[in-house]
Amino acid sequence: MQKPYVFITRKLPEETLVSLKEIADVGMWPSEEEAVPRKVLLKEAQKAEGLLTMLSDNIDKELFDNAPSLKVVANLAVGYDNIDIEAAKMKNVRVCNTPDILTDSTADLTFSLILATARRIVESASYVKEGKWNSWGPLLLAGADVHHKTIGIVGMGRIGEAVARRAKGFDMNILYHNRSRKPEAEKKLGAVYRDFYDLLKESDFVVCLAPLTTETKGMFNREAFQAMKQSAIFINAGRGASVDEEALVDALKNSVIAGAGLDVYVIEPIAADHPLLTMKQVVALPHIGSASVETRKKMSELACRNIAKVIDGKKAETPVV
Ligand code: GLV
Ligand code: GLV
Repeated sequence: MQKPYVFITRKLPEETLVSLKEIADVGMWPSEEEAVPRKVLLKEAQKAEGLLTMLSDNIDKELFDNAPSLKVVANLAVGYDNIDIEAAKMKNVRVCNTPDILTDSTADLTFSLILATARRIVESASYVKEGKWNSWGPLLLAGADVHHKTIGIVGMGRIGEAVARRAKGFDMNILYHNRSRKPEAEKKLGAVYRDFYDLLKESDFVVCLAPLTTETKGMFNREAFQAMKQSAIFINAGRGASVDEEALVDALKNSVIAGAGLDVYVIEPIAADHPLLTMKQVVALPHIGSASVETRKKMSELACRNIAKVIDGKKAETPVV
């Protein structure tokens, strides 16, 4: 009997694919760095029962309409805004993500961005490597403190709570904003709920970890940056499109806020000549939130198990729908 066909849209470590290969014929886009071309993706989807996709793949209605055998799409990410969930439901295709296993790695990276931006780590490291360090100076590359400051977390999901745990270790005052209240986090972490604008006004570090939805799209707009302290640092490790980037550029240029640490952008990869990349008060990373070797392997294994289970007629471990 012919095995079901599964297509993986980016090169993943072979050892994470062993169990999937037992039950399926697996095709894989061979590049680690380059996204699969749309044409190839559509062609592969036509014959696949399962797709293992990246957040950079647009899994839309056109794809679902032309994938008659498709049963499951497993996204290698916790976010799934790149997938048309309604179209998947219409075609009765399961969609899965990789929550939980990436929570701590992503929180580590988010906290790194806070520290790197506040303490000017990237700028300082370049300064030394470029041979500019001539003498110790009392205010040489002096940044802002993180400890004992107020952090405002927008999007208090699992990653938001993990960032709050780290903030507690830095003796920070923790505010959060979320669609729903989180009584557990309030009790365990001393996190205090605030309306969005109150959080913006009171926080030294405003951290966006919200998923991208119609409600969060563009929520960090001109008014939002205006509401922040002039000394505030904005961190985005959620989704780029939660931000009006033009408004962010203006806020930074005009010292409406003090700095930004960004892992995500409206368009990824961000253009090399983007104004955000010309500002020394911006730390910009290439969407590496969950990118530790250990975590990426676990994400790949979980995505493979999800595909194998659905193809086998069982319930996925981490279904979205
Ligand atoms: C990364 O951004 C993810 O959603 O996992
Ligand atoms: C969302 O699902 C999160 O893990 O923050």
